[in-house]
Amino acid sequence: MIVVRDHHLTCTDAAIAHNGQGAREHRAVDERLTPEQARSASREWWDDEADAYAEEHGDFLGGGPGTPVGTDLVWCPEGLREADARLLGSPGSLAGCTVLEVGCGGAQAARWLATEGARVVGFDLSAGMLRRGQEYGRRAGVVVPLVQADAMALPFATASVDLAVSAFGAVPHVADSSRVMREVARVLRPGGRWVFSTTHPMRWCFADDPGPAGLTVRTSYFDRSDYVEWTHTETGRRPSYVETHRTLGDRVREITAAGLVLDDLVEPPWVEGASQPWGQWSPLRGRLFPGTAIYLTRKPGGSAS
Ligand SMILES: C[S@@+](CC[C@H](N)C(=O)[O-])C[C@H]1O[C@@H](n2cnc3c(N)ncnc32)[C@H](O)[C@@H]1O
Repeated sequence: MIVVRDHHLTCTDAAIAHNGQGAREHRAVDERLTPEQARSASREWWDDEADAYAEEHGDFLGGGPGTPVGTDLVWCPEGLREADARLLGSPGSLAGCTVLEVGCGGAQAARWLATEGARVVGFDLSAGMLRRGQEYGRRAGVVVPLVQADAMALPFATASVDLAVSAFGAVPHVADSSRVMREVARVLRPGGRWVFSTTHPMRWCFADDPGPAGLTVRTSYFDRSDYVEWTHTETGRRPSYVETHRTLGDRVREITAAGLVLDDLVEPPWVEGASQPWGQWSPLRGRLFPGTAIYLTRKPGGSAS
């Protein structure tokens, strides 16, 4: 079978032309994959890319000072580390908490949370990413349970988790992120929190380029068409990578519709000394507009509200 990965066309050929330098030109609005298409594209992509991703980003994600190898909670390419930011609470406050890492990839964050005394489970759609997580765990000597699951259908009991956490896991890749919000809300205990980082929605307007070309608006912020890469085979083509866009208002509505309260929205600047670009993220762009949004949400009830 001939397989050609097409990194230049997004959504449908007619809808969006990608000019090869990171610019996207949308000609139609709101074209989206089905949940099944997005799921199988993501599974295939992250399975195939797990080693390359670890090679490229492993040190950044799990090489923080004072932690075992492959063990850290880095919220975003801007370099914000939970050990410094303490968005989840002061040192010691997570001891004994039941924590779920959503779209955990190599589970660096799950292991860091375990070193804070939390009882953690990490889950991800991709067996390739989870295998990486197992390897890191063995090397670090910090082993956490890892489960293969889809964030749109969590195999966890209702009201069983104190805290759900994600650094760019699942949310940017699923067809229906409102369902993820509902599923996470379901598994949280009253008073439990869901804290997740994802691409800042305003990034959607700009070319996917860390350099000066990425400072020009190319796409309507209001166009919720998916970004899709396609694999071409002899019998046709199938989506092989997907990222989705929700405006800030969309995101707030899906959080509140799931019954969660939005306590804060953090737009982290680049931390001092951080300079390593990651894809479209760079200090150049970070000085001008945010690249990451971190949502701090809470399920009402319990002793916390
Ligand atoms: C950008 S990586 C983030 C992983 C990790 N948090 C990190 O910082 O490296 C996105 C992860 O989301 C996972 N993912 C994508 N779609 C998913 C879904 N529907 N359910 C669970 N995980 C998913 C991918 O397999 C991948 O590991």
